Formats: sequence, structure tokens, C-alpha cells
Amino acid sequence: MTPRPRLPDADRHRLDALADKLAGLRRSNIGYPCNQDFDYSELAPFFAWSANNIGDPFGPSNYRLNTLEFERDVLADFARYAQAEEGNWWGYVTSGGTEGNMYGLYVARELHPDGICYFSEDTHYSVAKVLRLQHTRSIMLKSQANGEIDYTDLRETLRIHRDAPPIIFANIGTTMKGAIDNLATIRGILEDLAISQSYIHADAALSGMILPFVTEPQPWNFAAGADSISISGHKLLGSPLPCGVVLAKKRNVDRIARSIEYIGALDTTIAGSRSAFGPLFLWYRLRSLGLEGISEIVRRSMELAAFAESRLNEAGIPAWRHKNSVTVVFPRPPAALMEKWIIAPRRDIAHIITLPHVTEDVITEFVADYAKARSEK
Ligand SMILES: Cc1ncc(COP(=O)(O)O)c(C=O)c1O
Repeated sequence: MTPRPRLPDADRHRLDALADKLAGLRRSNIGYPCNQDFDYSELAPFFAWSANNIGDPFGPSNYRLNTLEFERDVLADFARYAQAEEGNWWGYVTSGGTEGNMYGLYVARELHPDGICYFSEDTHYSVAKVLRLQHTRSIMLKSQANGEIDYTDLRETLRIHRDAPPIIFANIGTTMKGAIDNLATIRGILEDLAISQSYIHADAALSGMILPFVTEPQPWNFAAGADSISISGHKLLGSPLPCGVVLAKKRNVDRIARSIEYIGALDTTIAGSRSAFGPLFLWYRLRSLGLEGISEIVRRSMELAAFAESRLNEAGIPAWRHKNSVTVVFPRPPAALMEKWIIAPRRDIAHIITLPHVTEDVITEFVADYAKARSEK
């Protein structure tokens, strides 16, 4: 093998400085849903190979340096968590939640070329872009103050456009407020209006790995009426590289698959070359944690959310969260606070997301800083 080219000293120092910077920022990253509490070092030897999961995870591939076998295991686990119908699901490991949403909306558009996509104003910013890319007609609906879709607006708008099949983009945990659009209510509206052709995509970026592990989940999955679901891998489980899973009903996917001779595989995925490491990392995380380990992450995150909510309120900072949510919402803090803490404000609110690296110590320090910054304003 060609010897490793030597990194010049100046560049080595830059790498060292980057490592120091990232290590320092880990503690303050409290506003984005990325679990930082993991150890994948056992997988480091796998960076010796240019593995690639090009093509369909369930089909043959000419490119045999792959982790497709591991990817299929990961998908089977997620399909179980999302209550997909046995024998009628398909999916792949994506580059993240955005690609999964894009895939779901692609299937929906292929099935209903004249469809209109409905999504609430609290929907992730990337969805409007995906709809533009696909030339899918869409209507943004109002949200309720709690971040959930406004069902009255949905009902009225559907009634006006009864001639076009609806593609409902449902938020299963909005980015800012962790709100869940209730699939049972949405299906009830479709039934009331006697709409026979429709498609529901569930964007379960963070909550898709929470709801399977709580005792009273809101209706969110295939059993509740979703036709496709996107979940991020790097959010609740945590991973050094972004990844995710998308699942869809197999009979819908089969209608749009195409075979490509060059790769010897079905071209069912959005990306051509796909990371072989995303699936391997997810597989390692799922297998090493086991069901008990994942449930423990969810339980601990929920405990931390309750702690954060009550500490903030005790300090006079009105904070709240949805049932089964680890997104604790409060008024937008003074700008000075955001120099120390990595938080994501939008208009007049902000939040912290209590994944396990956001410990009681971190929360206590953040609340003290917030209370102080407020009193100095
Ligand atoms: C509700 C929601 N959907 C989609 C996304 C996009 O996911 P990703 O960053 O994995 O592409 C996010 C990211 O925060 C999100 O919160």
C-alpha cells in the first residue's frame, strides 16, 4: 500500500486545534437534537476500506465492498419500531432526515402526480425546498400556538381542493416545539371528507426513536396510517456522521423502482453512492445498546427534560414541553447567552433538547446563566 502522505506540521496543529475546539463545544451544544454521548471507537478499523452501499439494500450489487447485510438488519429494527406491516415495507439508510423526507415526498408525487402537499408553518425549513425541487404543488397551513398543525385549517383547505389527492406532510415532533401532528385526527378528517386517495408522510426526525419506547405514544407510525416515515440516526441515537432511515410501503415503492445495469442494482434510492458507514454505525449502536439500552436513553432524556422544565420555571423563565417530548421551549434568551451556549432561536422562542449529554449540571449552569443575563438586561 502507498505509505500515508505526511501532513505538514502547520496543518497537524490545525487538526489538533480543531479537536480541542470540538471537545470544548460538546458541553454547550444543548439546542440541537444531536446526542453526543457515544463511543464508536471499536469501528475505527473500518475506515481502512472504501466501502459503499450503492443501490438497493435488498438487491444484488456489483460493488461488493459494502455493508448491505448490516443495513438490512438496521432497517428491520426500525420497521419493527415503526410498526410496519410484515412483508409490505421497504427502506434504506439515508444521509439524514432531509433525504428521508425527500424520498417520502418523491414516492407520494410519483403515486399522485396531481397531488397537493399540505404542511404546517412549523415544518422543517428543508421541506419547502424539496417540494420546489420536485415541482410538487403545495399549500402551507397554519399551526396552532403549540406547534401542532391547525386541523381546522387543514379540513377547510382540503374541502376546497377535493379534486386533487392530498399528500399530507405530518410532523412527528416539530423542530422548534416538538409538536406532533396527530395522525388519527388527520385520518379522521380525510374520512369525513370522503377523500379516498391520499398519502401521509411522517417526519419523525427525532421523535421516531422516542415514541416506540414510551408507554403512551401519540399515533405516529404505519399502524396509525403513515405511508412513509423518515427518522434521523444522529439525533436520538447519536453518531459522528449524519445518517437516517426512511421506510415506505413496499407496494408503493415497487411501482417506481428502475433497474440500472452499470451498478447491477435497482436504482431505488435518492443518492447513488451511499455511505456504508451510516448503516454500520447504526447497526453497532442498536446492537450494543439493545432494546434496554435504547429505552434507557429515552427514559433518561425524558427525566432530564422534566428537570430542565422545572428548573427554568423555578427561575421565573416560563418553560414547557409536549407529552413525550425532550424539547423544552422557553422565551428567546438575550443574545449574550448564545455566545456561550449553542441554542437555536426562532422568532421569540428557543429551546433546549435534553439528550443524555445535557446533564443536570449542564442544565443548572444554563439556567443560572439565563437568569443572570435576564436580570442584567
Ligand atoms: C422535524 C425535523 N425534520 C427534519 C429535519 C432534518 O433532519 P436532518 O438534519 O437529519 O437532515 C430536522 C432537523 O433538525 C427536524 O428537526
